[in-house]
Amino acid sequence: MEKARKVFEMTDLSVELCGVKLKNPTVLASGYLGVSAGSLLACAKTGAGAVTSKSCNMQGRKGNENPTVITWGDVVMNAVGLSNPGVKEEIEELEEARSELKKLGVPLVASVFGGTVEEYGQAVKEISKTKPDLIELNISCPHVESSVGRICTFSSDPQLASAVVKEAKKNTNVPIIAKLSPNVTNIAEIALAAEKAGADAIAAINTVSGMKIDVRAKRKVLSAGTGGVSGPAIKPIAVRCVHEISKAVKVPVIGIGGVCTGEDAVEMLMAGATAVGIGSATLYRGANVFSLITSEIKKFMQEEGYAKIKEIKLEE
Ligand SMILES: Cc1cc2nc3c(=O)[nH]c(=O)nc-3n(C[C@H](O)[C@H](O)[C@H](O)COP(=O)(O)O)c2cc1C
Repeated sequence: MEKARKVFEMTDLSVELCGVKLKNPTVLASGYLGVSAGSLLACAKTGAGAVTSKSCNMQGRKGNENPTVITWGDVVMNAVGLSNPGVKEEIEELEEARSELKKLGVPLVASVFGGTVEEYGQAVKEISKTKPDLIELNISCPHVESSVGRICTFSSDPQLASAVVKEAKKNTNVPIIAKLSPNVTNIAEIALAAEKAGADAIAAINTVSGMKIDVRAKRKVLSAGTGGVSGPAIKPIAVRCVHEISKAVKVPVIGIGGVCTGEDAVEMLMAGATAVGIGSATLYRGANVFSLITSEIKKFMQEEGYAKIKEIKLEE
């Protein structure tokens, strides 16, 4: 009994992402509970290994009319429309959270997007003023327009993905994460292009483009018509994407998509992820989801005889 307790306590859940240490591999995904200093801190206090802020751009965006988020069964679907107050106001929120996050030892990932390659550079330059630990480029939102088509077009084409990453790198010394879309034929090719352009890490996946129709009302349910699908239903897509990406690149991968339990997180780690993003699970299991998933990972490790997260590997 005493030995079992010692093994449990010695289990090392920490991971390193671009030189940044996370006490456990769970990361709050962008867009959930990351819209204010208060919600970022709440996730940090309830056990997140790192927290990602809601994506913001230079000018800010009002977002779409309601309904913007719907759920049924294992599906969450949203077309929030990247509503945000703009980088300058976002910086105030991040500044407010910054020192407390430092005290808690929880790194901050700041997420930005733009309508053009240049706007990505400007947003990265601005957000760098608040000294986040990492910056994530949202080049993968499937339901907001940009100069090249929907935002996810930036991660549908290796040259565009590369251009955004290069522009971001020119404008900051903070490590850059490129967040990719699953709505492509060859996600590994896009990841490789981002890596070659200087991306320090890859995050995958953003939501899967989808549509819901109310057959009685004979109308599309989301005000924007289409939206992004997330939640447990997309986990197999996410695991496959993470596996393909991690085989193609050397930089670390943050595996996101449908993770709700410790075993889901382990599946992502086995697919090749270094850390695991958690979004929709906050709706299913509450804000305490980070500590729940972390203790479930720990239990799995103990049962399977793993002492360190790094040892969790797929046998191929
Ligand atoms: C309501 C909502 C808002 C989101 N907002 C953002 C966002 O601002 N930036 C971003 O990169 N991803 C955003 N996402 C995508 C999530 O970060 C995540 O990639 C996706 O939901 C898959 O993970 P999950 O199944 O754990 O939710 C959003 C998702 C939802 C459901």
